[in-house]
Amino acid sequence: MAPVDDLHIFVNAGAMAHFSTGDLKAPLVGLDMSSSEQIHPPGFGFVVESGIFKKIAESEEILDEFNHISNIHDFEGRAITPGFVDAHTHLLWDGDRSNEIRMRQQGMSYAEIADAGGGIRHTVSQTRCSENLHRIGIQRREISMAHGTTALEVKSGYGLDTESELRLLQVYDDMQTERQHPQLYPTWMGAHDIPHGTKRELYVEQILSEQLPAILDQGIATSADVFCEPGWFTIEDTEDICQAASQGGLSIRLHVDEFTDGGGLELAAELGVVTADHAIHSSDDARAAAADAGTLQGFLPGTPYVMGSDAWPPIQQCIDEEWPWTIATDFNPNCQSLSIPMAGSLVTHRLKIDPIASLAAVTRNAACGLNNQTQIQGVIAVGAKANFIELKSTMIESWCQSPGHSPIENTWIID
Ligand code: NIG
Ligand code: FE
Repeated sequence: MAPVDDLHIFVNAGAMAHFSTGDLKAPLVGLDMSSSEQIHPPGFGFVVESGIFKKIAESEEILDEFNHISNIHDFEGRAITPGFVDAHTHLLWDGDRSNEIRMRQQGMSYAEIADAGGGIRHTVSQTRCSENLHRIGIQRREISMAHGTTALEVKSGYGLDTESELRLLQVYDDMQTERQHPQLYPTWMGAHDIPHGTKRELYVEQILSEQLPAILDQGIATSADVFCEPGWFTIEDTEDICQAASQGGLSIRLHVDEFTDGGGLELAAELGVVTADHAIHSSDDARAAAADAGTLQGFLPGTPYVMGSDAWPPIQQCIDEEWPWTIATDFNPNCQSLSIPMAGSLVTHRLKIDPIASLAAVTRNAACGLNNQTQIQGVIAVGAKANFIELKSTMIESWCQSPGHSPIENTWIID
């Protein structure tokens, strides 16, 4: 863990991925994501003051200027990148659905498993009665940080009634007290599924009249999310919930087109939402419209991996068309990986995406989809938040080449 004093000097980095070209509040697209311009050669270092990058230069220059400072960390040639931003997680839930593996192997779909009593609603019943949520949340945040994550978007959605959804968001808020830990960005996802024994129309009505007002009143969530997918929430439901949530001051993130093209990405583009995630089966027109609207396509490669699906997102096409995209873990009971390097391994090893482009997707681009844009993160640039990773290797590309163990020597969050 990093020391807390105000001025910190870091020297003798290996290659350093900084991603600091152009407007830092905008995602990188196309070949800019993997350009050699995004990388400082070996030998650089930086100075951090009050948790912010103050100077980035050759190590010698830094040592000359700051020779009165004793608080110096030597990277010894290890590669440096911005901290990972995991911009799509369902961090808090209790229970176990490992029995669903065999159901999938026998050919049951996600919807069929849900209808047979598994899926989200099964986790809801195990989560509502759990007394361990705070402890579970802390443990999972530690795992995430050990894999290089320095900021996490965290969804509710395993409560599905007002009281339980408020409770999940309250646990996220209670977890925020420690310094030098990944900051959490809470998203309300009451529209994750329809609770047992309730009709969809009635639940949407309850969300609009009771649950959302209570969430706004609580004031913890900064975003709202809806599972917009045939069989779950319709385009009309999604539109109504999004409009009410954004009128209440929440930004919008969506789950769209995971199993079929239900028009979710098209709606996301019309609404101009921050990020539309999964987006596996979306049309090319919807992808182009999303790019025009400034909506990120948030790809979650862990999900097709655990589902045994061959439907992978068209990431190379996004690069070729210069559409903005990100990658995240989608940690949930079906996809139990909090490792951004694992997600990176899937897209580099399976989809042959350039490892530096993939790194831009989990750092600068993912940070552009967080709410707190007053504080730049996801880059190594003067004025940005000093969240960064020291890899074990001298090579940046190593960040996503060890899916089974963490490639991280140190995750640095300097507050
Ligand atoms: O993003 N698809 C909807 N929500 C989650 C899965 C939730 C679950 O199966 O518990 C997802 O993959
Ligand atoms: Fe998800």
